Amino acid sequence: MILEVTLSGLVIILLCLYLLVWRWEQKRFAHIPKAIPRLPFFGNMRELDLNQCHVIMTEWAQRFGPVYRIKAFDEEILVLNSFDSVHDALVVKGSAFAGRPPMYRTATHQRDKHSIVWQTYSDKLTFLRKEVLKSLKMYGDGMDNLEHKCAPQIKVMVDTITKHNGQQFDPWDVIYDAISNVMLGLTLDTTFDHSTQKFKMIKDINYLFNDTFGAGSARELDFLPWLSRLGLHKYSKKLQRALTMRDTFWNEELKLLKARDDTDCIVQRLLKLTTDNQSQVHDVTELTAKEVFTNLILAGTDTTATALTCLLLILIHEPDIQEKMWSEIHQHVGVNRLVTLADRVHMPYIQAVLLELLRYTSHVPLAVPHYTMCDTSVLDIPVPKNMTVYINLWALHHDPEHWPEPWTFKPERFLTNDGQLLPVTDPVRRRLMTFGAGRRVCLGEALAKNRLFLFATALVQSFEFQRAPDETNTKPQQLPKMDPRTYEMGLVLHPQHYQLIALARY
Ligand code: HEM
Repeated sequence: MILEVTLSGLVIILLCLYLLVWRWEQKRFAHIPKAIPRLPFFGNMRELDLNQCHVIMTEWAQRFGPVYRIKAFDEEILVLNSFDSVHDALVVKGSAFAGRPPMYRTATHQRDKHSIVWQTYSDKLTFLRKEVLKSLKMYGDGMDNLEHKCAPQIKVMVDTITKHNGQQFDPWDVIYDAISNVMLGLTLDTTFDHSTQKFKMIKDINYLFNDTFGAGSARELDFLPWLSRLGLHKYSKKLQRALTMRDTFWNEELKLLKARDDTDCIVQRLLKLTTDNQSQVHDVTELTAKEVFTNLILAGTDTTATALTCLLLILIHEPDIQEKMWSEIHQHVGVNRLVTLADRVHMPYIQAVLLELLRYTSHVPLAVPHYTMCDTSVLDIPVPKNMTVYINLWALHHDPEHWPEPWTFKPERFLTNDGQLLPVTDPVRRRLMTFGAGRRVCLGEALAKNRLFLFATALVQSFEFQRAPDETNTKPQQLPKMDPRTYEMGLVLHPQHYQLIALARY
């Protein structure tokens, strides 16, 4: 009897506490409009297919306005869907929105304390960003350096494609391998033969991280960490495997790098930092170097390799665009040397194609989740401290008010009437935010744009890409659609695998 009374009392107290917390939570978020009604416990998870959430959230923006909140299990999330709201948050109130939310996936192995991507806004983050940016500038701004690092990989890529001799193949591996080796060159000053175990290992690590750190269904690990701790979620084991493989790779490479004194690469610079006084203040250790290396390899490979495979898919669907790119290369460079970054000014059409590629496909549709560092506001709507914020770049880049016919691939949007590239200050260019903006803007933006240009021009200069024939060899094979609404979600959005043929231009 006493036990029953005590238990009932406990249940009532817990219920009252729950209601108090619930009311307090409701008050905190009261000013932010809700999207659709929520279910107890699940919130909006029933409607929110995590693999298509950027598309669903964009539809909700049309119904509920550009700023609203959703609930993922017990977490309230602010979603910003328009240029004005994103600009206000990331640029005007930059530091207030520069945090990263605590997440189960990033807390394991202290990734949230040592990496750049997953660390919240802090003095250490600012310090690390500055240092890594300095190292990246060797390549991003130092154009000769980047061309020098890319040229051998471009040659391997072109030679490998040439060996297909007009027969159909899937372009993914050859592009991915080349981009991956450029990243290994920049970070570790090493490259691997594509057939080696080591190279397969770094590819597997990247694939596993892509699967487990994306905004897709692996995000459930953060919303329901107890499922993961009990090993009950389908992604828990994958996550562990990714981290273990990464550690093995890192330990082996670190030993080799430490034995060398003839190299200047990003990891070497990070290791040097661990011994300087200022770094000790920020607790920069070998663990920091490992995490930053992982960030760069992952962010620097999948994004660019995916962009290039999307580009080829688009060029097969749109042969006129491919021809215009080719004629610009033919006219200004010809075929006897690679296109360089200095040639870029003479190639407004190609630059416009690449900008349109970044808008149309919006490879990182929800950026990386942000977190409010203090009580703040967006477009005058009060937003409390410690709230997760999704930046819906997908919605921004397909807003018909600013991008007429948003699902049509139109490089001309970025050109003046006489075919010149719009200046960076033009409102159209300013509305393109593929790399985010403000304090957490992509660290590799300059590098990514330069490398994309070098690889895209090399591909179009060397080959004419066409649809592969079907099994009967009589008509063209069915291709996946180029429409990015059909792409699959991982860390980045990517199209289904497809086959093409590449006919040598010379
Ligand atoms: C087409 C290529 C790329 C795209 C579309 C892209 C896009 C993005 C986006 C949207 C973010 C999140 C910004 C935010 O949180 O608001 C980001 C962050 C980041 N990117 Fe990229 N990126 C690309 C290439 C690269 C490359 C080549 C590197 C490495 C050299 C890189 C390194 C990073 C890092 C380290 C961050 C985290 C910055 C931070 O949290 O402070 N990215 N990128």
